[in-house]
Amino acid sequence: MVSLKTPEQIEKMKIAGRLAADVLEMIAPHVVPGVSTGELDRLCHDYIVNVQHAVPAPLNYHGFPKSICTSVNHVVCHGIPAETKILKDGDIINIDITVIKDGWYGDTSKMFYVGEVKPHLARLCDITQECLYKAIDIVKPGTRLGDIGELIQKYAESNHYSVVREYCGHGIGDVFHEDPQVLHYGKAGTGLELREGMTFTIEPMINLGKRHTKLNQKDGWTVTTKDGRHSAQWEHTLAVTADGCIVLTARPDEPYYNV
Ligand code: MF3
Ligand code: CO
Ligand code: CO
Repeated sequence: MVSLKTPEQIEKMKIAGRLAADVLEMIAPHVVPGVSTGELDRLCHDYIVNVQHAVPAPLNYHGFPKSICTSVNHVVCHGIPAETKILKDGDIINIDITVIKDGWYGDTSKMFYVGEVKPHLARLCDITQECLYKAIDIVKPGTRLGDIGELIQKYAESNHYSVVREYCGHGIGDVFHEDPQVLHYGKAGTGLELREGMTFTIEPMINLGKRHTKLNQKDGWTVTTKDGRHSAQWEHTLAVTADGCIVLTARPDEPYYNV
């Protein structure tokens, strides 16, 4: 069942979304060669709890042990921060932040370059961001979820990348993950038709090589590419309005930012 949010509820999601976006801005200068992902987790955790007076949603979510997800290079998603994981020059990393404020969720992630990144990896990150932006640009009442999936798949595959299928975007509100599932591949003209008041994430995971993933059986969380090649992801939380959408997690440097 897909829930519709009232304007009052969307105002609360705007606050949570803004906080999640602020965490990504706060952490940016710390993403440098030599820092551990454990340190990035600590900085985000303390900022969310002590400065924002909010709750880091991943912590203890179905047993997830940390407050953010840090997915480096061939890690697709749900990477677990660790003191032993030291970032090095040339790495790419996705940092995924979800905060709960006043009972409402905001979920967003972006790629960061660690030092100097090779052009083919920077391009993977850029095209993945464009996949998200192109999808956002068609979100309005009447658009169907298959329109979003096909657009992302076509753009990624036309650049000779592949789209991860095992993980997808999701409805979000006063719970972390709810209906609908937002696939990043598919067929235009199919699937749920969007309506004003729907709130969901779009979070394409795009691979340099083949689309297949593998779950780390030891930690139960870390998802990597099967072929070991790099993967990128960008995520925003959106609310469908009468004539388009609001990007609830937009940062000031993005075209969707609304003060
Ligand atoms: N933030 C992720 C998402 O975009 C979910 C992380 S769940 C966790 O849906 F438990 F790994 F944190
Ligand atoms: Co999400
Ligand atoms: Co997320």
